Amino acid sequence: SFFDATPSGQIVNRFLQDMANIDQFVPDKVLDQLKKTLTMITQFALVLYFAPYVLVSLPIIVIPYYYIFKVVRIAARDTRRIEAIAHSPVYTQFQDVISGKACIRAYGAERRFEFWNSMLVEKMGTGRYANEAVNKWAQALSTQLGCVFYLSCGCACVVLAYKEKISSAQLGLVLLYANQLQRALMDYLMGLASLETNFVSVERIAEYSRLEKEEEIFEERCSQDVQLEEHTPNYWPSEGRISIKNVRMRYLLHRKLVLNDLSFEIPGGFKVAICGRTGCGKSTAISILMRLYPISHGQILIDGIDISTFHLNDLRKSIRVVTQDPVLLVGTIRSNIVGEDSDDEVTEEDIWKALCQVQLAEKVKALGLDFEIQEGGTNLSVGERQLLCTARAIVRRGGKDPKVLLCDEATANIDLASDEKVHNVLLGDNNKATVLMICHRLQHIQKFDMVIIMGSGKVIETGSPTELLKDSNSELCRLVNDSGKT
Ligand SMILES: Nc1ncnc2c1ncn2[C@@H]1O[C@H](COP(=O)(O)OP(=O)(O)OP(=O)(O)O)[C@@H](O)[C@H]1O
Ligand SMILES: [Mg+2]
Repeated sequence: SFFDATPSGQIVNRFLQDMANIDQFVPDKVLDQLKKTLTMITQFALVLYFAPYVLVSLPIIVIPYYYIFKVVRIAARDTRRIEAIAHSPVYTQFQDVISGKACIRAYGAERRFEFWNSMLVEKMGTGRYANEAVNKWAQALSTQLGCVFYLSCGCACVVLAYKEKISSAQLGLVLLYANQLQRALMDYLMGLASLETNFVSVERIAEYSRLEKEEEIFEERCSQDVQLEEHTPNYWPSEGRISIKNVRMRYLLHRKLVLNDLSFEIPGGFKVAICGRTGCGKSTAISILMRLYPISHGQILIDGIDISTFHLNDLRKSIRVVTQDPVLLVGTIRSNIVGEDSDDEVTEEDIWKALCQVQLAEKVKALGLDFEIQEGGTNLSVGERQLLCTARAIVRRGGKDPKVLLCDEATANIDLASDEKVHNVLLGDNNKATVLMICHRLQHIQKFDMVIIMGSGKVIETGSPTELLKDSNSELCRLVNDSGKT
């Protein structure tokens, strides 16, 4: 839910600008400030040793310096914070524009986006400008105060020289150091304010490093009274029996429940279709089986074992999923099917078998298994991406076929003939896995053993498709009639 609630621009901003600040500026500035402190102490000591009368002028200088520093540090830090925050929307808009450039051009909205971009950049500049203005204000005042210090040193030296308590060589030395000190005082003050300003980046990164890890959130919320299993047992899942009991779930606190007392039982090896209107919570039901989001009430059992008792990695390794958005990573077709860090052995034969099952073997034969996939899989069509994701989900890993397969509209963008063949493979008798498939297109509905119709986050109808289709009052009949297909 962190990624749902946090704009990507904000995350990118912290990893780019703030990390660079911490790596490059903060250590240098800390060292620099230490050096300046030591230099100032020695210069001060020397001036005071030869011309102790200068001490009289110190309150005149120190009090205004303190005042300037007090004002400038808060203003500089806050303007820096405003500037840092204003960076994030610029990055977010940049990403949006890059991914939606075709739409922007198609609707002739370039001017609107240019205007929007310049507004955001201007806002970012306002923070920077304010930060510079505050610094210049402090610089101007502290330079004038430095002159007061230099003047008082000069006067003290004249008095001492008049009384013949200081030689002309010593007088020259004091004036030389007093001149340097005048500048050093200003630098020191500005350095201190700027160091504090740069610590805004440390504060922003620290906020992210203190975020709870996914596993910790689950362990805390789901398993208060459950002992976590060391690993998923070797035999699990053996049948693929899925049982969801009174599950309630909401994405954000204070928002309405997306799953509201969702309950169903699926026997092992059953092929189940989940149908329902858009937004009724079908994808959410799949995501809680992977523990992508924590549930606030209820229990999910696979083969009789509560899935909250497993470590996340172990659980996710045991369940295969094809999501609504086909996600491919930069790499080759092979690496996308096998997975870079997969411990389970996947043989070449397994890969080709999976590709054949999803009707992609011909295409991949032409390209080769080492065909490079670009960022987001943009050099493949959406349907091909879906099929490749399906192959990734059904491939044998470590000599084992999947036991639980979750498909979220896995064939939504595929031509009817290929769609039919993929359905035949996934729903055929040769596939022993329990298959949970979310479908909007209902032409294959009779191939399933069971249909679950969802509405407003709960099950409103369940049964075998043949029986439900016989009953003209059933919800399934209504959905089929609405979609105009049987
Ligand atoms: N990441 C999220 N953050 C907040 N709310 C969400 C999130 N994802 C979904 N929702 C909300 O939860 C509800 C159920 O969404 P879900 O994606 O499960 O619907 P769905 O049945 O899969 O719809 P579709 O058929 O369009 O895929 C919707 O009202 C949606 O607005
Ligand atoms: Mg969905």
